[in-house]
Amino acid sequence: MEEDDIIICAYAKCGTHWLWEVSEMLKSGTIQYKKEMKETRMIEFIQKEGIDILQKPRILNKHLLLRMLPTQVVEKKVKCIQIMRNPKDVCVSFYNHKKNILPSIGYDGDFVEFTEAFLSGKLPFGSYHNYLLTWQKEVAREPNLPVLTLHYEVMKVNPVRCIKDIATFLNITVTDTFCEGIAEACSFDKMKQFDKEEKHIHLSLWKEGSGGSFYRKGEVGDWKNWFTVAENEKFDRIWNDKMKGSGIQFMYTL
Ligand code: A3P
Repeated sequence: MEEDDIIICAYAKCGTHWLWEVSEMLKSGTIQYKKEMKETRMIEFIQKEGIDILQKPRILNKHLLLRMLPTQVVEKKVKCIQIMRNPKDVCVSFYNHKKNILPSIGYDGDFVEFTEAFLSGKLPFGSYHNYLLTWQKEVAREPNLPVLTLHYEVMKVNPVRCIKDIATFLNITVTDTFCEGIAEACSFDKMKQFDKEEKHIHLSLWKEGSGGSFYRKGEVGDWKNWFTVAENEKFDRIWNDKMKGSGIQFMYTL
């Protein structure tokens, strides 16, 4: 790892594709989409050999915990941008992702069963609450590690404000017009369209005819279409209990 690397850090389905594209535009100073897939910069997929051959400066991304990253991340004070999203929308997004990908790595059960797996961590990357609590502890132990924390819901409400915050964190001087241009280019509809028409490499990830995509709905509060009142109450009970005392709060509607 190098001092000028940047790492986008998040649990799955929290908006990493969005944040990666925004950060790439800020870093390059242009409103141009990356032709490559975000997955070509994903630490757990490309590993050391894949990282070493990338052109610098690099914007990497990962769903891993800090202790699973190379120790140079802490030693070289690599900038980390963390994005969080409310757990109910993450759960719905993850469920749809797993339903639509190839059966060998996908999920065939119903949503209620998936919710149980989500809350008990029987999923790739473990449980979301464990990810958040562990990340919080790990970062607290490394006060010199530069970390910016963003929320998906706040990015939805005020993308320009968040883009300016990222620019400040990365020491990039920007104009209002440039940030507005990035926000517009990185809106859900624009990114979805570009992904469909222009991304150079498409992962053969999706089940034939599933219509699967990393760009599904891009909304806050879709969980309301999936949870019954009783399931919602149960989810709240378990989630609030696990997150007690963490101080981490989420917006569930706009
Ligand atoms: P939904 O499944 O709720 O639509 P990740 O990139 O971490 O895999 O997260 C994927 C989620 O982010 C999906 O959520 C996807 O639609 C949403 N997303 C992707 N690009 C977005 C954008 N530009 N604006 C808002 N949401 C976006």
